[in-house]
Amino acid sequence: MNKQMTAPLAFDVQKVRADFPILAREVHGKPLVYLDSAASAQKPRQVIDTLTRVYSHEYANVHRGAYYLSETATAAYEAAREKVRGFINASSIKEVVFTKGATEAINLVAATWGRAFLKPGDEVVITAVEHHSNIVPWQLLRDATGCVLKIAPVNPDGSIDLVSFEQAIGPKTKLVAVAHVSNVLGTVLPVREVADIAHAHGAKLLLDGCQGIVHEHVDVQDLGCDFYVFSGHKLYGPTGIGVLWASLALLEAMPPYQGGGDMIDTVTFACTTWAPPPAKFEAGTPPIAQAIGLGAAIDYLNSLDRVAVAKHENALLRHAMSRLAQVPGVRLIGTAPGKAAVQSFVMEGAHPHDLATILDRSGVCVRAGHHCAQPLMEILGVTATTRASFALYNTMDEVDALITALHRAQEVLL
Ligand code: ALA
Repeated sequence: MNKQMTAPLAFDVQKVRADFPILAREVHGKPLVYLDSAASAQKPRQVIDTLTRVYSHEYANVHRGAYYLSETATAAYEAAREKVRGFINASSIKEVVFTKGATEAINLVAATWGRAFLKPGDEVVITAVEHHSNIVPWQLLRDATGCVLKIAPVNPDGSIDLVSFEQAIGPKTKLVAVAHVSNVLGTVLPVREVADIAHAHGAKLLLDGCQGIVHEHVDVQDLGCDFYVFSGHKLYGPTGIGVLWASLALLEAMPPYQGGGDMIDTVTFACTTWAPPPAKFEAGTPPIAQAIGLGAAIDYLNSLDRVAVAKHENALLRHAMSRLAQVPGVRLIGTAPGKAAVQSFVMEGAHPHDLATILDRSGVCVRAGHHCAQPLMEILGVTATTRASFALYNTMDEVDALITALHRAQEVLL
C-alpha cells in the first residue's frame, strides 16, 4: 500500500477551520477571507464555549470568597496561570502576571522597574521596527526620569543587523526592549543574540511577544530574556487579557504598579505592605473569564501539532509572497529571511486605505495604515502599507482570493 496514502495528515486545515464559527460567515455576500490575525485572531469554539460556560455557570470574584463558587472560580483562574506558565516554560506561576494586554504589561515595566531603577543619562535601546506600545512607554519614562532613548536601525529588507544593533548599546544601557516578531514586517528578530549582547553590557532585555507568541515556540528560559509580554487576543484568546513574564527576583525587586485590592499584604492608614508577586501587580478584580479563556486558547493550541502549524503558516507566507510579487505594481515590504507569516505591501497608484476598502467588498479583510509603527513607516519612506497576516486557519485558496481581489481592485482604482 502507498505509504503516503495511509500517513495521517500532519495538519488538517479544514478540521481546524470547523473550530472557528466566524469563518463560515459571509461579508458583502462573499465568503469571509480573514487576513488580519496580526491585529486580532478569531476565536475557536473551545474558547467561546469556555467564556459562555464561565459566565453561565462558574462565575464569581476570585481570591475573595469563602464559598464554593468563588473557590472554583479562583481555582480556574489560577489554573489558567499554570497553563500560561507551561506554554512559555516559566519556572514558576509566581512569574506570570496577568494584565489587560501587552500594552499594559510594557507600561507596567516602564512605570515600576523603569522608574525605580533608571537614572538621568541611563539608556533604553529599542529598534526601528517597534510598535508604538514599545516606543511610547519608554518616551514617558524618558520624560519622567531623564533617561535616554536610543534606536537601533533596521535593514531595507526588514532584518536587524547585529553589528549596528550592538553599536547602539553602551555602558549606560540599562534596558533593551525589542519585538520578538515585527507586526509590520514579519521579521523574526535574532532575540537570543540580542539577549547575549544586552547581558554582556549589563542590560536587561524585554521582548514584546505579541506576534512572537503566535508564530514562534516561546521558552522564556531558553530565550534568555528578562521580561516577555504578550496579549491573549492575538493568540486566539479573549481581549482584555495579557501576560507579563519576568523572573521572580525581578518582580520582587519592582515596586507595585497600581494600588488597590488583592495586591496588599496589610493596609493601615499609615502604610501598606505588598502581597508577593504576581498578586503585587494585579490590583483590583482581574479579568477573570478572560484569563480562563486564554487558558482555553492555550489548551486548544496544545491540542494541535504546532510544528505542523508553523509549516502550514510558512507555506501560506511563501505562496503569498510569490503571488503578490507577480501582481503588477506591487512591492513587498519586509522580506527578511526566516520571517513569520505577516506580509506588508504597497501597490502603485493605490492608497492602502482605498485598497483595503475595495478588498473588503470581495470579503477579504486586511489591515491598512501605519500599523501603530509610524517611525518605521517614515524609515521605509511610506505613509502606510496594506498588510495581510496569516493564521493557522487560513488556506492557500484564501491567498489566491486575496490576489484575485487585488486584480479586481486594480481595475477599479487604476
Ligand atoms: N498591533 C496590532 C497590529 O499590528 C493591532 O495590527
